[in-house]
Amino acid sequence: LKSIAIMTSGGDSPGMNAAARAVVRTALYEGVKVFGIYDGYKGMLEDRIVELNSQSVSDIIQRGGTFLGTARCPEFKQEETRKEALKILQSHGIEGLVIIGGDGSLTGGSLLSDLGMPIVGLPGTIDNDVWGSDYTIGADTALNTILDAINKLRDTASAHRRIIVLEVMGRKCGWLAMMAGIAGGAEYVLVPEVKYDLNKICDELKTSYDNGRRYSIVVVAEGVGSAVDIGKEIGEKTGIDTRVTVLGHVQRGGSPTAEDRVKASMLGEKAALALLNGQSNIVFGINEGKVVAIDLHDSVNNNKTLDPELVRLARVLSK
Ligand code: F6P
Repeated sequence: LKSIAIMTSGGDSPGMNAAARAVVRTALYEGVKVFGIYDGYKGMLEDRIVELNSQSVSDIIQRGGTFLGTARCPEFKQEETRKEALKILQSHGIEGLVIIGGDGSLTGGSLLSDLGMPIVGLPGTIDNDVWGSDYTIGADTALNTILDAINKLRDTASAHRRIIVLEVMGRKCGWLAMMAGIAGGAEYVLVPEVKYDLNKICDELKTSYDNGRRYSIVVVAEGVGSAVDIGKEIGEKTGIDTRVTVLGHVQRGGSPTAEDRVKASMLGEKAALALLNGQSNIVFGINEGKVVAIDLHDSVNNNKTLDPELVRLARVLSK
């Protein structure tokens, strides 16, 4: 291979820069040209493709977001659009592509690979919902942002004897909520993967406040529904002063944690080397601390489940 390209796509996540940097520097180290595609599939279709050098990726490892920019691009679902994209890539002599993104972005990659472009995916999303990998780039940073919020919410909740309902991101996946609940010591965690009984929760909350409890934190994964509605119902049913915080896009930003920087760097190197060694149509993830290669089609065609051990642990420790 003489030249490869790198792009980020879908929702940005902290650590995408570290991964892109590793891809670029590894390819250059191996004597291969690297192009950066700006603003995801949208930029690809608009031919916003620029050759990168080592300096293009300096001073970015510590930054959240993605220096390449990103976008959501529903048009890419059409085969005609993908054929256009392929022609544009080929016009630059691009022979392989690293895509850093979540499920939707990797699905786009899988469809592009069906047209003959060698693709290597890296799981870049705060949601940690990519099948086949325990880890996605950015999830750890987002989790730490949520924990910081929980710590602060505890102070004010306790001062007022309130219930705080906190909505966190994660799309259809409850991983962020569950991990934040365990690490933040939440009383309840509502996730889409597990049924819950709000009446029972309200009865328990009422009893605990009657017995002197000063505050409770209820973490709600966005996939369950609106925390505003859930908070309203809890307030009405318990008669306890309840406030809702929707954390929103603050979860997507910030300087990546050490874990996200190191793992993203490991994954980025593997991705570049795989393409250079003629391997493609895989996603690199991390399982039990080790980098693993997952079939790209398998990864996008399966849904990740929430580890029942986490659910059990959260339940045991909140009682
Ligand atoms: O996939 C990452 C994510 O932050 C989800 O958790 C959330 O549902 C979604 O993206 C928000 O998307 P947007 O930034 O397009 O509003």
